Amino acid sequence: MEYTAYFNGSWVPNSEIRIDPFDRGFLVGDVVFETERTFNGKVFRLREHIERLYRSLTYTRIDSELSPEEMLDISEEVVRRNEHLRSDVGDFTVHQFVTRGKNGPRFRARDAGPPTVSVRVSPVSFGRYAEAYSSGVHGVISRVRSYSSESLDPKIKTYSRMHFNLAEMEVADIDPEGWPILTDLGGHLTEGTSYNMFLVTDGVIRTPTDRAVLQGVSRGMVFDLARQLDIPVVEEDLQPYDLYTADEAFFTTTSPCVVPVTKADNRQIADGKPGPITLQLLAAWSETVGLDIVDQALMYAKD
Ligand SMILES: Cc1ncc(COP(=O)(O)O)c(C=O)c1O
Repeated sequence: MEYTAYFNGSWVPNSEIRIDPFDRGFLVGDVVFETERTFNGKVFRLREHIERLYRSLTYTRIDSELSPEEMLDISEEVVRRNEHLRSDVGDFTVHQFVTRGKNGPRFRARDAGPPTVSVRVSPVSFGRYAEAYSSGVHGVISRVRSYSSESLDPKIKTYSRMHFNLAEMEVADIDPEGWPILTDLGGHLTEGTSYNMFLVTDGVIRTPTDRAVLQGVSRGMVFDLARQLDIPVVEEDLQPYDLYTADEAFFTTTSPCVVPVTKADNRQIADGKPGPITLQLLAAWSETVGLDIVDQALMYAKD
């Protein structure tokens, strides 16, 4: 009962996805990736994720040797081939990665290849956040700064994430359950280690500009839902002050969609409960995808 994956043109069990230690994806983090999830077995906003993947490929000058349409078809095929295993886990996370491949004799990025390409599924790890919908989480600002677009633009999705690892470790020293929040060199809030961030102040949804954050697909969904619900959204520079004094705060990312933030740097946000607009967005999202996101997470949550 193993999941079937696409790996360099073949269909293999997940356990046979192997990365050569001389592949530059492993050797020097020369790799981009994407992560989606399914709702009732249908991949959410797959085309947008594939478009973002190809923007990451363009920026890094990695050639996947597949067209976006082929990558999209392969991704859907991976989900189809595993559909019979979905009832046990609720829904799937879908992962694509593309590395630049192995070095040539002169160890230069421009001579490397062919690329290593894989698409696979795994169960959504509902257990990581199911309780957070009611309790909210503690956002902790880390001393680790986001990359600036002058070094490695945070708009690309790459496994070069040592700064995120360091932020997670540092925040765990303060609160083992804390969720890191990074800032840019100017001290503006950017994003978390795998999520975008939002505040609500006086009925307005506020989020950092995309200068130093991933252009989250879930972030885009919040823009769309807010438009439908007639709630104004602004993208602007935000400081820790704005977080501490917000009426609501939440993170967005692919699997949980919306995660309420009820505490920031040990300060309770408003009344310390998930806020009404946060919950309204979550409900509207559930309605759009045709399942109750919170109920599903609670039903399938495992430690
Ligand atoms: C650094 C970072 N920011 C934001 C996000 C949220 O993006 P999305 O909503 O597309 O999952 C992710 C997702 O993994 C991420 O890695």
